[in-house]
Amino acid sequence: MILDIINKKRLGKELTYKELDTIFNGYLNGDVLDYQMASLLMAICINGMSDEEIFALTKIFIDSGDILDFSSVDGIKVDKHSTGGIGDKTTLVIAPIVASLGVPVIKMSGRGLGYTGGTIDKLESIPGYRVNLKDKEIIHQVKDIGIVITGQTACLVPMDKAIYALRDVTATVSSIPLIASSIMSKKIASGADKILIDVKVGKGALLKTKEDAKKLSELMVKIGEFYQKEVRTIISDMNTPLGRAIGNGLEVKEAISVLKGEEKSNPFVDLCYDLASEMVSMGKNISKKDAYNQVLQSIKDGSAYNKFLELVSYQKGDINGIKISQKKLDILAPSSGIVKRIDALEIGKLSLALGAGKETLNDKIDYSVGVYLHKLVGDKVKEGDVLATLYMGNKKVDVNYDKIFTIDM
Ligand code: URA
Repeated sequence: MILDIINKKRLGKELTYKELDTIFNGYLNGDVLDYQMASLLMAICINGMSDEEIFALTKIFIDSGDILDFSSVDGIKVDKHSTGGIGDKTTLVIAPIVASLGVPVIKMSGRGLGYTGGTIDKLESIPGYRVNLKDKEIIHQVKDIGIVITGQTACLVPMDKAIYALRDVTATVSSIPLIASSIMSKKIASGADKILIDVKVGKGALLKTKEDAKKLSELMVKIGEFYQKEVRTIISDMNTPLGRAIGNGLEVKEAISVLKGEEKSNPFVDLCYDLASEMVSMGKNISKKDAYNQVLQSIKDGSAYNKFLELVSYQKGDINGIKISQKKLDILAPSSGIVKRIDALEIGKLSLALGAGKETLNDKIDYSVGVYLHKLVGDKVKEGDVLATLYMGNKKVDVNYDKIFTIDM
């Protein structure tokens, strides 16, 4: 039976709900073995899935765990998800902005994967910050202060955890139907009323082309329609790292400076405002333009930053305790010109090598290390200017700076 299912998909045929249910739930309970599931995933990767199969798979994923119910919390709950990028700390900025404007935010975030960092790892650079809140605590907190950022509970789509781990080691992560089911099952099970997805595209992202990013976006909107949830998507660039900081503690500090209004317009700040405006527009049923004006105001009058402080202290964190390594190394511009490219993937590899992420499951993250970009794409530089500073830990790194920065005369 299992072999027949795998073979059917290998031949590019459509699987029924029952067949998908048999093999995926069989995998979760141990009847289907890793190599059988890996074979099916590869067949899906190569032959794709019909919309019906994708809806069925998403339902099977959702039903594998708890479906959270936040209906007792007043207001439209808008959730946001990013498909993952280098230096992506947008959640830390937009969640407090949105909550400060009266839209409740319940954000369950994940950890880093591959070269990309996760919001929960970043928050753990704040000493004391609790990332494992129970459902009751989440509801209590969101009713009290309007915002929660916590880790995903073990009961949230356990199927995704199992399948994702296998995809990660079988070159099947970038399958669009599998990404869509993975993301949408978690968002729907998390109890959101409306969902905003930031689809990353480029060298440092899962999806490398705009066409694929568009396909994924359209598919997630369709899954949303199936579940009667409004889904909006924004496709954003991930050829260049997002913002100036890459590395956990450094990224939290950068998020703080954006919330304080200290950063001028740059692609990261602009993306934060864009995403936050979209969420506020969805949460308040107002135009994006009106939402954008409110977002700017929340930065200007300090309410967004104050909401962040309230969040951190409610979850027992101490932002004064964030440690940044004192062992620094500057990368200097080898020539004068204009910064044409900063390679997101190479920066991701560098920060991982410094210890900002995990190379093996047993590695410990060093929250104090990372890279800070003094110059961004489009900036003018003179020979000898500091392009970036590395904050180093105990790991020795061997970096090819030429691969990271491209400077045009
Ligand atoms: N993010 C997810 O949650 N799942 C994927 O498959 C890819 C990105």
